[in-house]
Amino acid sequence: RTVYVNGQFVPEGEAKVSVFDRGFLFADGVYEVTSVLGGKLIDFAGHAARLRRSLGELEMRMPVEEDELLDIHRELVRINEIDEGMVYLQVTRGAAADRDFAYPGEEVEPTLVLFTQSKPGLADSPAARAGIKVISIPDARWGRRDIKTVQLLYPSMGKMMAKAAGADDAWMVEDGAVTEGTSNNAYIVKDGTIVTRQLGTEILHGITRAAVLRFAREAQMKVEERAFTIEEAQAADEAFITSASTFVLPVVEIDGTAIGAGAPGPVAKRLREIYLEESR
Ligand code: PDD
Repeated sequence: RTVYVNGQFVPEGEAKVSVFDRGFLFADGVYEVTSVLGGKLIDFAGHAARLRRSLGELEMRMPVEEDELLDIHRELVRINEIDEGMVYLQVTRGAAADRDFAYPGEEVEPTLVLFTQSKPGLADSPAARAGIKVISIPDARWGRRDIKTVQLLYPSMGKMMAKAAGADDAWMVEDGAVTEGTSNNAYIVKDGTIVTRQLGTEILHGITRAAVLRFAREAQMKVEERAFTIEEAQAADEAFITSASTFVLPVVEIDGTAIGAGAPGPVAKRLREIYLEESR
């Protein structure tokens, strides 16, 4: 596989990043995941806009202009012959001379890395047909979840806790309300109304979330952006998640309680269809 590192396309075995890179030492970096369907990037502009915002919040500069970033994405998809899969992008504050908590000066160049992952069958996944099971766990992440940083240890722990409990993923709970999934946004449907947490610093502002809510409203579905509890979710007609890598995925069980009929519901199915149709 060919990857991109700081201006160069190289075989993955030859790619090098410094041991002093702040992404490695301090998780001082941000990332984006853009899906590819039929060789086409889904919502690149949305991901680029969020990247700009994440970098701005951390006082980091964009290492390359947005049109060049798009070219790099397209080039990697082409070289690696990605039909279905994703492009991962990471920007870190670069490698300072020594390990130091304070940000280094402007002379230190940010590190820009991109790679692809091929995922044949991404759009037609068994999980989408069966739905997934989630457990609830406390949200123990830091307070700026609107910034897409590479500090992903707690989400990793959450996935392991889910796995240990025989589930597929975890929904995180703070002050009694669901924030989001470990790597996705969370939704419930009750009496035809789609409910998902309002934007704020407590959750990542999902690019898929924005698209799905727009499609839902265009299809005259009712949408409420507000917090909800696990109990409310368990009593809902449907539940689902969204992310760039899963699109719209039905949730059929929360903490061992079946949601609705315990099978993917019509709203989640319809939104998945619309999303895939609009993205192709
Ligand atoms: N995760 N919330 C969190 C905590 C996430 O990590 C993600 C994305 C989302 C959904 O955002 P979007 O729709 O823009 O993908 C919500 C990516 C896919 C990942 O970490 O692999």
